[in-house]
Amino acid sequence: KTVAVLYGGKSTEYEISLLTAFSVINAIDLEKYRVLPVYIRQDGRWIAGGEINGKLAYKDQLLLKEDTTVEAAAEHWLAPSAPTSAGTRPDIVFPLLHGPNGEDGTVQGLFELLNIAYVGSGVAGSSVGMDKVLMKDVFAAHNIPGPNYLSISRFEWENDAPSMILKVKNSIGYPCFVKPANGGSSVGISKCVSETELSSAITDAFLYDTKVIIEEGISGREVEIGVIGNHDLSVSVPGEIITKNAAFYDYQSKYQEGESTLVIPADLSDKVKAELEETAKRAFTALNLSGLARVDVFVREKDQRVIVNEVNTMPGFTQFSMFPLLWQHTGLPYQRLIEKLIDLGIE
Ligand code: DAL
Ligand code: MG
Repeated sequence: KTVAVLYGGKSTEYEISLLTAFSVINAIDLEKYRVLPVYIRQDGRWIAGGEINGKLAYKDQLLLKEDTTVEAAAEHWLAPSAPTSAGTRPDIVFPLLHGPNGEDGTVQGLFELLNIAYVGSGVAGSSVGMDKVLMKDVFAAHNIPGPNYLSISRFEWENDAPSMILKVKNSIGYPCFVKPANGGSSVGISKCVSETELSSAITDAFLYDTKVIIEEGISGREVEIGVIGNHDLSVSVPGEIITKNAAFYDYQSKYQEGESTLVIPADLSDKVKAELEETAKRAFTALNLSGLARVDVFVREKDQRVIVNEVNTMPGFTQFSMFPLLWQHTGLPYQRLIEKLIDLGIE
């Protein structure tokens, strides 16, 4: 099988995507799969490289130089008879992209138009899963418990910031989290305990998006679980995140060595574990997802209920990332997980 691996991309999570791609490409069995790299530069230009023939020594080898465009890349995939520098039409695309333009349905729409199979969720699931407001609206419609939240558009903020602040105070309270609606890896996210903090946090979040979500801060344990499948879903063991210094699981604690610890499997009661598994599957189904997702929840301190924070349709995928580690502890090691996801994408 020929697998085109897409990585890089025009989002704030570009660097994470390169780490993910480096791990995945080096783990794929090249006896079984032909791997074609497609690098998306930060400015959005696409570069299709030649077939990967062995292990990459450095992540920088992923930064392909030859310049093509998304149109050119699409064209050679559309024309299976025309061999190009990148070889033939892939059987499947693995979009190892995080954030807008990669995890939000846009690139998935391109694959649909090209009639090429791809790993992960389709257009609707990806786009709703990327937008935290739409995602939470869907959860609410399905009675999936989540933190209280409200959404503010840039237009509303620029026109009447004082009423927005008042609205947060009355309906959400403190502490609260301010997040760009479409983002990942906690970029642009702040925790606020006062009105002054809230105001600058909202201004900051608008640097990344035109829509911002404000969420109630939940006290409890931070737990994540993996889901894979298309119709018949499997769940992984749960994992817990213990953040060392930061006020929450921010960018630094996610990616800086020693800033957080992953406890896998998380030590949860059977009752909480059962609720978590059921809720994770319901969240996956409610969002119309397929292939894979990591469901991030809080186990609320006051009543031990599972409160869904969010779902990630292309979770971080290095050998040290939560999602593959969860599956490894469930009996599906890294390389087999990749093969399973490719099979689910082709199915
Ligand atoms: N958005 C990052 C990559 C994650 O969810 O793991
Ligand atoms: Mg996320």
